Amino acid sequence: MNKENWTNPTVLTDIANRFKTPLYVYDECRIRENYRTFYRAFKNRYHGIKVLYAYKANTNLAICKILQNEGAGADVVSPGELKTALHVGVKPEDIIFTNNSKGQDELKTAVDAGAVINIDSIDELKLLGDILTELGKNSRISFRINPEIDPKTHPKISTGMRNSKFGIHIEKDIAFNAYKTAKGMGNIKIAGIHTHIGSQIMDTGVFAETAERIMEFVLRLKNELGIELEFVDLGGGLGIPYHGESAPSPEDMARVVVPVIQKWTKKIDYEPQLWLEPGRCIVGNAGILLCRVQGVKKTPSKNFVNVDAGFNTLLRPAMYDAYHKVNVIGKENEEQSERYDIAGNVCESGDILAGDRMLPEVREGDIIAIFDVGAYGFSMSSQYNSRPRPAEILIRERSVEIIRERETIDDIFAGQRIPDDLKLR
Ligand SMILES: Cc1ncc(COP(=O)(O)O)c(C=O)c1O
Repeated sequence: MNKENWTNPTVLTDIANRFKTPLYVYDECRIRENYRTFYRAFKNRYHGIKVLYAYKANTNLAICKILQNEGAGADVVSPGELKTALHVGVKPEDIIFTNNSKGQDELKTAVDAGAVINIDSIDELKLLGDILTELGKNSRISFRINPEIDPKTHPKISTGMRNSKFGIHIEKDIAFNAYKTAKGMGNIKIAGIHTHIGSQIMDTGVFAETAERIMEFVLRLKNELGIELEFVDLGGGLGIPYHGESAPSPEDMARVVVPVIQKWTKKIDYEPQLWLEPGRCIVGNAGILLCRVQGVKKTPSKNFVNVDAGFNTLLRPAMYDAYHKVNVIGKENEEQSERYDIAGNVCESGDILAGDRMLPEVREGDIIAIFDVGAYGFSMSSQYNSRPRPAEILIRERSVEIIRERETIDDIFAGQRIPDDLKLR
């Protein structure tokens, strides 16, 4: 199988018939290519580059392993993702553990693993200090900075605005004092600085603006606290075209970000590594969701195509009003004569996977392909409505492989208990 034909209607029909629907289908070749394109765009311009794949985008073990093979580190946000990264062979020093609310056990797991801990508040720094003292261990840390920049994307995925819950603000010297405090803690090794302003960002200018703000602060750390950092991590966020619109490439991003870093390395008089955490632009366009039409309902106001997937399978349309291109497999060349809403099977009115689409006439049994679901597709899926999660398939160069079995009702029952006395009634 090569990269040209993984979206071929015959291939997709065969796969849907063989593995049943709903089904996530990924292309290994596309994932590798996306990673290499991203890595090269930065590596060609700055020597100290580390790309840490953002696991939250898609944590399937096979996909994480492919990216580990390519040399990616890991941006993880939970002990589960941390263990996933270790499981597929990512070295602890190439893992950064980020989130805004880390509990004691989570911090202990990260300390034991030897990952970089990305601190999000002063309380968290104190908690980590106590844990390190108790364990008699040291830890490499960075601070997540809130640069107060509008990434001009959906509000629910804007993460570095003044009112966001993430990061430590530069204003009022909060971040400066955090570094100062950390510098005085014997069991803490300050390794870096981090920021992540949001996701699905289409204006590369905001990355340059972020880099400016962070590097200005890095200069202050050097001048006033004598701190030299191992890395500057600018997070992820590069958007992808869901509508076929023009979107910035990794080259476009690197072209505006790297010169800012280079300008400031002269001022700080050392060269920290540049870390980046792409998720969506690595796996987003490498995934398709296949679902089966169970019936078409024509109402006085709308035509609904009822499919066997819902927002439990793909949350993005319901959560972010996200647009995903859809096709009726095998009818690509037919006239788009009817207007439809693709309705999910979850019992909520908001469960529309694609609204207001002109498509060829759809019939029961047709297969609908929903495109660009490789990122934040399966990873945000759930068992809502007691529906087992779908299977995942990987199209490889010479084979098609199942990389996650379809769940069963027993998987939904697993771990649940009915108290004994209730069983008697
Ligand atoms: C801290 C962090 N890094 C990286 C990412 C990846 O972002 P994206 O998938 O937009 O590249 C995210 C996702 O929101 C994130 O929260």
